[in-house]
Amino acid sequence: MKLMTNAIVICSFILPFFVNAETLKEAYKDHFLMGTIWHGYKLGNDSRNRYIVKEKGITAAEFNAVTPENCMKPMFIQPEEGVFTFAESDEMIEFAEANNLVVVGHTLVWKNQTPAWFFLDDKGGQVSREVLIERLKMHIRTVVSRYRGRIDYWDVVNEAVAVDRSEGKRNQTASYKSTPWLEIIGPEYIEIAYRTAHEADPSAKLLYNDYNLDTEVKLDFSLALIADLKSRGVPIAGLGYQGHLFLKEPSLTAIERVLRKTKQADVPLHITELDVSVLPNAWEHRSASVEERFKLDKKLNPYPDGVPQKILAEQAKRYSDVFSLLLQYSDNIERVTFWGVWDGNSWRDYRPMLGRTDYPLLIDRKFEKKPAYDAVINLVK
Ligand code: XIL
Repeated sequence: MKLMTNAIVICSFILPFFVNAETLKEAYKDHFLMGTIWHGYKLGNDSRNRYIVKEKGITAAEFNAVTPENCMKPMFIQPEEGVFTFAESDEMIEFAEANNLVVVGHTLVWKNQTPAWFFLDDKGGQVSREVLIERLKMHIRTVVSRYRGRIDYWDVVNEAVAVDRSEGKRNQTASYKSTPWLEIIGPEYIEIAYRTAHEADPSAKLLYNDYNLDTEVKLDFSLALIADLKSRGVPIAGLGYQGHLFLKEPSLTAIERVLRKTKQADVPLHITELDVSVLPNAWEHRSASVEERFKLDKKLNPYPDGVPQKILAEQAKRYSDVFSLLLQYSDNIERVTFWGVWDGNSWRDYRPMLGRTDYPLLIDRKFEKKPAYDAVINLVK
């Protein structure tokens, strides 16, 4: 008996060590892919940069999918008409192939991070519908065919749906987001984009990606959009739910609704940009003036010099709650990608406003695993 107790004590002491040595991709291999992003040049893509080296090491060890944070967006990959810059994307794909990572292309058609030249004619006026369709097709053909057979999933169209909240919470309605693509081409730009991407690489699986799908009208609109495209033979393989979460919002009920309705609609789901900010939601202050910002600073940036353990524990619980739901619906979820490798390099620090210090990921600013990391792994022990 004594011996057994000793054995249990020793086991429970040693086991966590081994279990902790397990990586995210191994722990979740029977459920879904675990992905992260490629920051690339933003950190100085230079082998002497110890941060990028560490980041790449963690990416190769812990994850089995990768999405470029910025380098494949139109403003970087085709900054001027007909001028393509592929170096960084090439490098990411070589890295992915060397390390057995599934590759996600991100993104071909978006309102943001798309250079103005797309929408202008040579006199600086609005380009014609015909020319814009040609530019759209040319962009997609060039980028997608370059990586034909080497990109597993493409976020073809990003963020094409808007919610009008002007009537208050109860009467929200969703519609196509007003963008130059919509205004100049009409909603058919979406169908054209998917058909063109499919022609350029029939083996790539094409996704529709958006945020705030936890808002029911937006989810319903997006699923109806996918159903409509499918019914007309447009090749679309799944929905991407970005998942930029906060500690308390959106509610677990709203998150579960995304997983449930997507499964009911028989549309495979990808969580494409997961992070859990521990800061107050600042999106409504994104255009605040410098003075307003100064006043808001303490309120919106409460942990500039380090985050309390209590908050990290709250975040771990939040990650654990979210992953419990993801596991419950894992038969319809193909991938969960985090929007960052470690807290030291996250867009949450500079969007929606510059100069904040957030802690949204599983690895901290010293490259150590956080309570949230353990919480995610412990669920599948
Ligand atoms: C963000 C990047 O993380 C930032 O570096 C960049 O300045 C802006 O874009 N939705 C998306 C991502 O689909 O491409 C965005 O990435 C975050 C929101």
